[in-house]
Amino acid sequence: MCGIVAYSGVRAASPILLQGLRKLEYRGYDSAGIAIHDGAKIQIFKQEGKVSNLVDTLGDYKTDPTHLNAHAGIAHTRWATHGPPTTKNAHPHPAGEGGRIALVHNGIIENYRGLKARLEADGRVFLSDTDSEVLAQLVDSYYDGNLFEALSSALKEVEGTFGVACMCEDEPGKLLVARRGSPIVIGLGDGETIVASDASAIIKHTRQAIYLDDNDVAVIEGDQVDIRTLDAVPVQRDLASIDWSADAAEKGGFEHYMLKEIYEQPEAIRNAIRGRVNLDRGTAVLSGLGLSPRELVQFQRLLIVGCGTSLNAGLVGEYAVEDFAAMLGEVEQAAEFRYRNPIVGSKDLVVAISQSGETADTLAAVREAIDKGSMVAGLVNVVGSTIAREAGRGIYLHAGPEISVASTKAFTCQVSVLLLVALKLARGRRMSREEGLRISQEVLRVPELVQQVIDTNDAIAKVAEAFTDYEHMFYIGRGYMFPVALEGALKIKEISYIHAEAYNAAELKHGPIALLDENMPVVALMNKGPGQEKTVGNVEECRARKAPVLGVITEGDEEARAACDFTIEIPACPHYTATIVATVALQLFSYHVARLRGCSIDQPRNLAKSVTVE
Ligand code: M6R
Repeated sequence: MCGIVAYSGVRAASPILLQGLRKLEYRGYDSAGIAIHDGAKIQIFKQEGKVSNLVDTLGDYKTDPTHLNAHAGIAHTRWATHGPPTTKNAHPHPAGEGGRIALVHNGIIENYRGLKARLEADGRVFLSDTDSEVLAQLVDSYYDGNLFEALSSALKEVEGTFGVACMCEDEPGKLLVARRGSPIVIGLGDGETIVASDASAIIKHTRQAIYLDDNDVAVIEGDQVDIRTLDAVPVQRDLASIDWSADAAEKGGFEHYMLKEIYEQPEAIRNAIRGRVNLDRGTAVLSGLGLSPRELVQFQRLLIVGCGTSLNAGLVGEYAVEDFAAMLGEVEQAAEFRYRNPIVGSKDLVVAISQSGETADTLAAVREAIDKGSMVAGLVNVVGSTIAREAGRGIYLHAGPEISVASTKAFTCQVSVLLLVALKLARGRRMSREEGLRISQEVLRVPELVQQVIDTNDAIAKVAEAFTDYEHMFYIGRGYMFPVALEGALKIKEISYIHAEAYNAAELKHGPIALLDENMPVVALMNKGPGQEKTVGNVEECRARKAPVLGVITEGDEEARAACDFTIEIPACPHYTATIVATVALQLFSYHVARLRGCSIDQPRNLAKSVTVE
């Protein structure tokens, strides 16, 4: 939530800040702003709406001397938490006499009310409704000629989370950045430093980066970076090399990032499983777990935590671990897990799933599981992210940057890797080498099967035309295909704004069927596999109530086709891998429905890519 960019160096800051904001816009797009230090004073420009609105208000910043002479600046794209998405609430927030301090913030200052009351009692006047301005004013209240001291004093008083960047009129060229709970990556360039909330905003300039730890404060001036604790003790942080290519974060000729990311899935899944299948031994190689078969066999339960799409992927993992390993599998929404004093301990292997690695609830669940003595592993896409680092062990997805707010390739890579985790656990228990080999071969087929679905994109687009005018939909599936129904419903609602609910197909008769009529289409996961004939029976019941049915069926299954009004075909495969293959079909279906409805596909309303607040 919210994206921060900051620059200090030899080049003009404004174009670099704006380019960075465009890359981070998926993190929030309610308003945007930049503050630049032109050597004499700080100038702030901000605007409601997307970054393009901000650019319009700047005039010709490419030739304007104000911008050309400014070699340091901070910028922000906002996802509103406190106060509506207006220009006055946009960051950067000025503070102090003549606006000598400027600050951008990502996170939530939980004790902002008390701090604000105190600052108001001291005569300070607030210009916005935000918690972030309270931090800016607090920094100014401590400022006495040393920005590091002012910022660290303020941050010691703050409860909550922050990624923050600020600068002061009296200290030209200097940036201060700090974090607690919200990511900050510092890109080290030649004569310059670029700071951002994530690597996508800096890879155009450098691949050398430092990820700040919680409560680190970095003082940056040109290419000088000095990292200290809040108590001014110098600390060293590892230098990381970012291996994403700049192209990976571009649209590459696709109309939307979402479509590009759907199309990238065969390659992304190949990367996620590469080197992780041992065909000789019919098992998975998951060295990131750092656990031997002897250690793995000690666990009595696989407990998976996550949110949203990652939670749906976790559900497939639950089915797989019970199916393959005859081991107890459980999935829990991360926020529920953290707040209900969960019964969890040393006999549990806790797997935290997160594309971003920054989701606040999932991170808190990781900490809770660690505190309760469990072994925790992260299943994360973003390298160096907080969950990956705090879990201490885990498996990177290697899906490449996922920019579209709607998660697609992260899900299919998460499920692919979860199948391998289940296989690994199973082989240490009762599963034979032959059975392990059979499952390994099925997992290795997935990229090709996904490609076959993508090749039917035009046919899926045609089917989507019949569904653009509905306002509600049901998704149904059984067993492994139930999480797919959940993920299909999540995808259609977040990008097309059609209200959708997912049910186990058996559950319809227990209430939801009352809603069925010609205005309530049903998307049914009816591909061949366990329980299919029962789902076909449920579909008949839906059609008897005039609900239009779209069936996801196995190629050439005429019986299933006859039960539906519309069909999308997927290649034959076992249900455990069909979770991936069928999901890709539903991603394309959602994409085309949303496109035909004229929705903002990559940046749906009210959403943000990385949910770093509770
Ligand atoms: O980064 P994470 O995987 O932890 O994010 C979890 C959810 O916020 C995320 O999957 C969300 O549900 C997506 N927008 C769904 O497309």
